[in-house]
Amino acid sequence: MTTPQLPAPGADAAAASAALVERIRAAIDAAGGWIPFADYMRLALYSPGLGYYSGGAAKFGAEGDFTTAPELSPLFGACIADTAAAVLATLAAQGQTGDVIEFGAGTGRLAAQLLLGLERTGQLPTRYCIVDLSGELRERQRATIAAAAPHLLDRVVWLDTLPDSFSGFVVGNEVLDAMPCALVHRDDAGQLHERGVVWRNGALDWQDRPLNAGPQHALATALNLPAGYTTEIQPEMHAFVASVAGMLATGAVLWLDYGFAHAEYYHPERHMGTLIGHYRHHTVHDPFFHPGLTDLTCHVDFSAVYREADAAGLSLEGYAPQAQYLLDAGLLDKLAELGTDHPAYLAQVAAVQKLTSPAEMGDLFKAIAFSKALELDALLPGFGGRDDSHKL
Ligand SMILES: C[S@@+](CC[C@H](N)C(=O)[O-])C[C@H]1O[C@@H](n2cnc3c(N)ncnc32)[C@H](O)[C@@H]1O
Repeated sequence: MTTPQLPAPGADAAAASAALVERIRAAIDAAGGWIPFADYMRLALYSPGLGYYSGGAAKFGAEGDFTTAPELSPLFGACIADTAAAVLATLAAQGQTGDVIEFGAGTGRLAAQLLLGLERTGQLPTRYCIVDLSGELRERQRATIAAAAPHLLDRVVWLDTLPDSFSGFVVGNEVLDAMPCALVHRDDAGQLHERGVVWRNGALDWQDRPLNAGPQHALATALNLPAGYTTEIQPEMHAFVASVAGMLATGAVLWLDYGFAHAEYYHPERHMGTLIGHYRHHTVHDPFFHPGLTDLTCHVDFSAVYREADAAGLSLEGYAPQAQYLLDAGLLDKLAELGTDHPAYLAQVAAVQKLTSPAEMGDLFKAIAFSKALELDALLPGFGGRDDSHKL
């Protein structure tokens, strides 16, 4: 596998990555010489103190490794606030109160944008709950919200576990793609393998194992993969979507992420899967490149998200490319409200272009929403335009 010439990490970052590699090596030894790729990905992203999301790396924005939509523009969160406001207003009309839960809040930008947007629409929840696997990001989230919306900070609470039952609006942007995935490979003879990680010749390396039984085998078999095909399956993401759906008593869930419906995801031409790394705004195809300093991610199979949510009793409210979602939720009106003489106007025009262009984030990213026991009298903002639900 070729790795492009990329900026070298500083001495402290390189030492942290080396310490993480040692920890991964110990885990491989303890497991008898082989760990599934999902275990490697979990250690690389979430190992306490050293993992990509649980260590000290900058991660988001210009100094980090990638830029997410809320980092690009506050208009993104303003659009989501309109969807959330419609849900909370409907709950109120049903005589119920609702809170917000955001999963994987990153730097806290989306939380600040949503709180300000909900304040503008008169639908501020009593509690804005954040659930993030990374405790290290908590302080960063608190600082972002304190700077952008100090008067709303006392509504924000950080939860360590999911509530048993929840009413309100649930949202997660680019969270599902950050969950450890398993890698499967069908060889030229048709045999399925699970791809794992070993320590060989002083470095991390791949090693396949025949996959003949168990839940991974059932999931991989159902994909009907052609020979010579490698891809991901995401049982952890499935379980997560199911437990969030199971927690929802009344309200709606909105997931935004990059990915495809099943037929496009497992298309014969996508025979190398979608697993990629991000390092300093470069795409890296070697997942062993500076573990702990490189983000690892795979695209989301939205048909699987639908299947899990549907099985847990949620109703699909819509599935649309991000561009359609944002435009229907009033992105251009919000840009116009900013006014052409606003100092940030030109930068926001560029951000809107990036968020909606089919060549950038407009098509690859999708929005999918579900509801439970919500008596909506109109389509949710964001889902009144093009609907791709038939693709799921
Ligand atoms: C790519 S970042 C996205 C951050 C933010 N939503 C944004 O759009 O900028 C992924 C986030 O998901 C979090 N995460 C991953 N798995 C999670 C889980 N099971 N529960 C909660 N947060 C999770 C990570 O810690 C990280 O903050």
